[in-house]
Amino acid sequence: MMIHLTRRERFNAAHRLFNEDWDDKKNFECFGKCANPNWHGHNYELFVTVKGNVNPQLGFVVNLKRLSKIIKEKVIEKLDHKNLNLEVDFLQGKVVSTENIAIGIWEQLEPAVKNIGIELHCVKVVETENNFVEYFGS
Ligand code: NI
Repeated sequence: MMIHLTRRERFNAAHRLFNEDWDDKKNFECFGKCANPNWHGHNYELFVTVKGNVNPQLGFVVNLKRLSKIIKEKVIEKLDHKNLNLEVDFLQGKVVSTENIAIGIWEQLEPAVKNIGIELHCVKVVETENNFVEYFGS
């Protein structure tokens, strides 16, 4: 019985949209106020969806505490209350867009989730109440 299971976590972080190959003028043209050199912040929400079979003895796909611990260790501790452009190893050299944050989170989580016998299905990152992205690993 294949079930999808989603855990929500949250992190608050600062960033700017900025391509280091471009000058300030071009960055402002492309990214507008999101390129503000003095940063701005978001209260991000992260939804991690995994899939697997229901364990007949336990009645669940995975122990949610175990999944939450993985998400916190691999992702939240690296992102929460951080400057995403300056302080996050897996975002270095990238434009810190919601898209690239989602892809980066996927890459952090995928091996660890596989390690506990389930499959990562979707990483959803909500930047504002109107904007979110979903990444399914390809
Ligand atoms: Ni932003």
